[in-house]
Amino acid sequence: MMDAFERFGLLINDRVVRTPVGIASMAGIVDASYVIERTGHIGFAFIGGYSIDQSTMDAAKSIAAKGDRREFLYNDPVEELTKQIAKMEKNNVILGINLRGSTPESFRTLAGATGDRVVYEIDAHCRQPEMIAAGCGEHYLKKPDELEAAVRALKKEGVTVSVKIRAGVAADDRQLAIKLWSAGADILHIDLMDFGSAKLRQIRNSCPLMLIANNSITGFDKMKDMLSHGADLVSLARQSDIRTLSGLDAAITRYADEEGWYNAPKQLCRGGDIRALAFCCMPVKECPLIPTLSRMGITKENYIHMKQEAVKGLPLENGKQTCFGSLAWCCKISSPCMFRDLTLKQEGLSKKEYMRLKRDLSDTLMCGVFHDMPFDESS
Ligand SMILES: Cc1cc2nc3c(=O)[nH]c(=O)nc-3n(C[C@H](O)[C@H](O)[C@H](O)COP(=O)(O)O)c2cc1C
Ligand code: SF4
Ligand code: SF4
Repeated sequence: MMDAFERFGLLINDRVVRTPVGIASMAGIVDASYVIERTGHIGFAFIGGYSIDQSTMDAAKSIAAKGDRREFLYNDPVEELTKQIAKMEKNNVILGINLRGSTPESFRTLAGATGDRVVYEIDAHCRQPEMIAAGCGEHYLKKPDELEAAVRALKKEGVTVSVKIRAGVAADDRQLAIKLWSAGADILHIDLMDFGSAKLRQIRNSCPLMLIANNSITGFDKMKDMLSHGADLVSLARQSDIRTLSGLDAAITRYADEEGWYNAPKQLCRGGDIRALAFCCMPVKECPLIPTLSRMGITKENYIHMKQEAVKGLPLENGKQTCFGSLAWCCKISSPCMFRDLTLKQEGLSKKEYMRLKRDLSDTLMCGVFHDMPFDESS
């Protein structure tokens, strides 16, 4: 049987993620015990949100006092989080802590005290007026420089950093993603609200950050839509019950074992994100490839060279009878083609192996595309 790394190729905090399905935080609800109850069905979980300084702890108390929302309340965040982290010590779910902090120093102090065993997620998502007034949650989406400073403070402690955002609040989500990537963030956890996969695709095309898609992902079709438009993982909050999580886990595991690339993009001309360059032809006709390359600042010659180099010595280099003389330029397996399939047969490659090789090709191309400075993704 395939192991989890072979199946999904996902690493967070230097640990293998068993499945790309996880839990998003809900203040006052999602703690270590909540995660432990769901352990067998998830790969990662963000507990919290936990308030980590006086102004956010006061805000949590005010919210809880109103009586309609729950909050985690305590006087010593380090003690509380140390307790929660310790409960998860022998658990193989990748643990993240969702944090409400109002200064870079708050994040840095906490990370210094609780160490690098967990992912630190900055809550730039909460829209409770008390939290925004305390200087966290959505406040950060309006003040991206402050958010950047918080990311940089955590990175100075050498920890893995995720930023939880709500789409459509910042002036430009793509520019925000680029800024966070430049600051050293590792993961962008996006509540897509009603924007759906089109917004996700834009962000995927802007940065190489690991992306977690969130909001109303309660069935396999919705999950697959997110994965085929750029998500590496998906998270659930309100419907993070065992039945839903186990259904999604089983479905994506089966899909990965059958198809080979669990989050394969749609082809570029069918609305896919730029990972789909792995399926694109030679740039010989007017099609979405040409404007995509020009937006990325990549010449046609460069693109050809990148792909040829990436498959050198690999089975994808072969395929004399295909349109462009190599499987490197061949379409997604879901597009029927007897020439490609004949080549695969001759090479002894299954359709699943072909898709896995395309996944590796895509990873190499993305490293090339995002090797240096962000480009202007304006589509
Ligand atoms: C009761 C409740 C509390 C929440 N608390 C937090 C929080 O503390 N931090 C955070 O980043 N998101 C929080 N969220 C947002 C969720 O993590 C998630 O982004 C949102 O509910 C959409 O995902 P869903 O459709 O899977 O529920 C909360 C959501 C709910 C319903
Ligand atoms: S190069 Fe081929 S696969 Fe890519 S966008 Fe153009 S027609 Fe579609
Ligand atoms: S040979 Fe088939 S799969 Fe390959 S590029 Fe041509 S049409 Fe696409």
